[in-house]
Amino acid sequence: MKPKILIVDDEKPLRDTLAKWFAPSYDCLTAPDAEQALSMVAATPDLALVITDFKMPGASGIELARRIKAERPDLPVIILTAHADVNLVIEAMRDGVDDFFQKPVTDLPQFELRVAKAIRTAALEREVTDLKSQLGTELENFTGKSPAMERIYRLIRKVAPTDATVLIEGPSGSGKELVARALHNLSRRAKGPFVAVECAALSATLLESELFGHEKGAFTDALARRLGKFEQASGGTIFLDEIGEIDLPTQVKLLRVLESRTFQRVGGNEDITADFRLVAATNRDLLRLVAEGSFREDLYYRLNVIDIRTPALRDHREDIALLVSRFLKEFSAANGGTVTGIEPAALKALEDYDWPGNVRQLRNVIEKMVVLASGPRLTTDDLPMEITEAAPDASTPRAAPAPPPSPATGSRPTEAAPKAAAAPTTLADAEKAQILAAIARCNGNKSRAATLLGISRRSIHRKLKAWGEKDLDADRTHDLSQQP
Ligand SMILES: Nc1ncnc2c1ncn2[C@@H]1O[C@H](COP(=O)(O)OP(=O)(O)OP(=O)(O)O)[C@@H](O)[C@H]1O
Ligand SMILES: [Mg+2]
Repeated sequence: MKPKILIVDDEKPLRDTLAKWFAPSYDCLTAPDAEQALSMVAATPDLALVITDFKMPGASGIELARRIKAERPDLPVIILTAHADVNLVIEAMRDGVDDFFQKPVTDLPQFELRVAKAIRTAALEREVTDLKSQLGTELENFTGKSPAMERIYRLIRKVAPTDATVLIEGPSGSGKELVARALHNLSRRAKGPFVAVECAALSATLLESELFGHEKGAFTDALARRLGKFEQASGGTIFLDEIGEIDLPTQVKLLRVLESRTFQRVGGNEDITADFRLVAATNRDLLRLVAEGSFREDLYYRLNVIDIRTPALRDHREDIALLVSRFLKEFSAANGGTVTGIEPAALKALEDYDWPGNVRQLRNVIEKMVVLASGPRLTTDDLPMEITEAAPDASTPRAAPAPPPSPATGSRPTEAAPKAAAAPTTLADAEKAQILAAIARCNGNKSRAATLLGISRRSIHRKLKAWGEKDLDADRTHDLSQQP
């Protein structure tokens, strides 16, 4: 479909000449004066540009431009004038006129170029405005006004429009995937695919064919060619979740992809190029894995072009009230809207808790409280056991609240900060105590404990392994499916 333009001039011969010249590339409307032009503008929402004479009976071309811009600021207007008066030009530009052209128009091809340029500029400006308004709505998925969260929003805004590789580090349930999706949705790739790969869920061989695809016959089950996630993500974003879990041979392949942007399908020898943006996430301390030799240093630096660290919830407790209010509204609406608020004492208990499962755990807790609520307002009686049991008793007054996180270390998952509750001395200890308590409460069933804490069962297993805890438990049978 050709773009529509409107040509306004009181002299019919000039209107007709222009309309005829532009007809091959544009759908031309014409009007003899400003009044008729305005009603045509109003009736043509997909109008791309207006060309108007300067001197006309009735309102002038500049007056027309001013009135058009009042209604449609993004509709470009070009004025044709016989008077090459610089002051006039400057004044009119200030009123929103986009360009001027000298009458009589002797160089029609040159004029057509200027028209095309004005239309293109307006389209670009619209795109920027759209992106900006999306920026508002995309970040609406986030709640929190703390400095730690503001920092995340700033980073997202800055980094999203670029194609830079991003590594998102942060503890379980702290919003890493939310950040990854925002990075995609606020980028020029937003209309392209967002392809998430859960690296930890797959064995090394499966992961490789999942990422790179495979040719027919590459292995016994490869009955047909299959496109890998990198190819599927072409024109969009690939999100490699739990990247700390991939094995060394796959790391080598990944590094090669990041360096050359090309790869081969399993069982194939054709070099494939895919246009993707890579975002990776981990809740492990990758630098420590590098030090231990289980993560390649060169890959780490390739991934870590931009580093976004999502803070542990205990490092931005000031957001808990806002988060509670958001989740309360959400779950109350889903449950008939009977719960309308929360008592200050109950909120205080939530604010004082340590949240090993971070925002996800808070969300789960609020959902549970809303579903089980005994009245219209949540009270301390509605608090789940993991919170009431963790609360310090009245005889041990709480220490001062945790200090705000320092940008350098505050959001490190392994960071040890002053612990408010009495017994454990570091956050790592506190976390361990809480997880072990949850497992004990669930009679050793780690799946249930994980649900209770709002963290994944895998991460419980990982932590137990890290602490050297014995891995014999009630839900071993479920685990068999996970064993290689
Ligand atoms: N700042 C926030 N505001 C609102 N909701 C949030 C925020 N952070 C996280 N959430 C919500 O918490 C839940 C967990 O977030 P998400 O899945 O992004 O965490 P994650 O860091 O990827 O966790 P994991 O390490 O377990 O994969 C989601 O429901 C998400 O919408
Ligand atoms: Mg996640």
